[in-house]
Amino acid sequence: MTKLRVAFITAEMAPYAKAGGLADVAGALPAALARSGVAVTLFLPLHGEIDRERYGITPVSGYDRLTVGENRFELTARLFQADSGEAGLQLYFIEQERFFDRTGIYTIPGSGEPWPDEDERFFFFQEAVLASLVALKLRPHLLHLNDYHTALIPLLLREQPSRYHIGCDPKTLLTIHNLGYQGRYPASSAVRAGLDSGWVAPLAPLEFHGQMNVLKAGIHYADHINTVSPTYAEEIKTVEHGFGLEGVLQERQAQLTGLLNGIDINVWNPAADPHLDSHYTAEDLAGKQSAKVALCQECGLKSVTAPLGGVVSRLVHQKGCDLLLEALSRILATGMQLVILGTGERRFEKALTAAATKYPGRMAFIAGYDNGLAHRIEAGSDLFLMPSRYEPCGLNQLYSLRYGTVPLVYSTGGLRDTVKEWDETSGNGNGFLFSEYDAEGLLQATGRAVRLYRQPDKWAKLQRNGMQEDHSWNNSAARYLDLYRQLTGGT
Ligand code: ADP
Ligand code: GLC
Repeated sequence: MTKLRVAFITAEMAPYAKAGGLADVAGALPAALARSGVAVTLFLPLHGEIDRERYGITPVSGYDRLTVGENRFELTARLFQADSGEAGLQLYFIEQERFFDRTGIYTIPGSGEPWPDEDERFFFFQEAVLASLVALKLRPHLLHLNDYHTALIPLLLREQPSRYHIGCDPKTLLTIHNLGYQGRYPASSAVRAGLDSGWVAPLAPLEFHGQMNVLKAGIHYADHINTVSPTYAEEIKTVEHGFGLEGVLQERQAQLTGLLNGIDINVWNPAADPHLDSHYTAEDLAGKQSAKVALCQECGLKSVTAPLGGVVSRLVHQKGCDLLLEALSRILATGMQLVILGTGERRFEKALTAAATKYPGRMAFIAGYDNGLAHRIEAGSDLFLMPSRYEPCGLNQLYSLRYGTVPLVYSTGGLRDTVKEWDETSGNGNGFLFSEYDAEGLLQATGRAVRLYRQPDKWAKLQRNGMQEDHSWNNSAARYLDLYRQLTGGT
């Protein structure tokens, strides 16, 4: 059997550059696939925040002036590479100072607003990847695209094949990690993508309410579309969760599947996490209490016996920051303390800062992005709160399960697929859910959690139920591999 060659194309990847869960997926899935025998070549922009020295990222000789997009941007790209540490996984970084050498992968730091040249940045990235495929003579069987940053590629390949001599006819798989972000730009942006105005004419696949919509075109043209949990794959076909694209998703439903994400169990491992001073396992949870004491000290929380709720989140509407703020005083009134780490929209940062000032010692808010602290919150908290309005998969609840930190979530998307309500009678379940999206729902779930926390034996059972589950990439990567084979005709 020929070795399956896949190009995995992503805007972010852990540990190099991370804004959210896409980076974690890109940091783990391609490596898992490589271990299963796939030859994976991964492409990523060389963002300014990537530490070239630390990761040994070096230029690829002979590829320092790649012509991109028929020179439409009047800029060339330079290819860099790094050792992935995994046989079968080759990493390439696209360097272009004007577009990528800045801090902030998607948004202007401090404001949460997208970069004004977002369209050009990602059009350039996609064209540069296609140019690299040609230059490197990779001839992939399949292009695995992720989110709207890469979703123009199927249209470019299908409609303008003469522009790209990639020497093969790869299948395209588009993974939607979050339908809320679509790459909607004024119709005039089409010119920057090298397309004429006909592409944004009414009813054209790229057109959406008079604008250009990159994700819509991706959904229309990709050979297959998947999203990151079975429930979200159903939800996005509805008006409630479809963000206006439910119609086009319904049209493609025969080619739309939901594949649950996994987690990197080496990076998220309470028994050996380098960000922790104390370690623990499901059999011996003592180190978890030490992690809690250390976390309370680090964040200035006064009681080490009160139940501690943790939040690590992008502070955006999706994540239910408003609901959390609405319920905050009543959550604290149950006796729970809170530690919240996040960055995002200024209005949420301001409100959380004000709340932390109002409740010193009972609630801590750390504004910013801090990977080490995210790990310490996962370990030191008793509960992990995710009141997300929608959640394509969600990784933090999976990290929480592995860390014996009980997830308390809204019943939606991947949260619904992975969190099961604790059942007193059978002793089954791994967390708490609420299904009415309001402060009352959140508070009732909090009440149930706090009551159980006061019964240590039952609480320990609940923790262990979660810790014993297997959410590693093994299963999910096998399902991706099946899909790859199906799409490429069994290569
Ligand atoms: P999303 O991708 O929608 O943000 P996920 O739950 O899939 O949600 O993944 C979020 C990832 O980003 C997790 O690894 C989480 O720990 C991390 N993360 C989010 N915000 C921060 C932050 N402020 N500091 C450190 N890590 C963060
Ligand atoms: C997105 C989603 C999140 C998912 C992640 C990785 O950012 O919001 O739910 O876990 O992508 O697929």
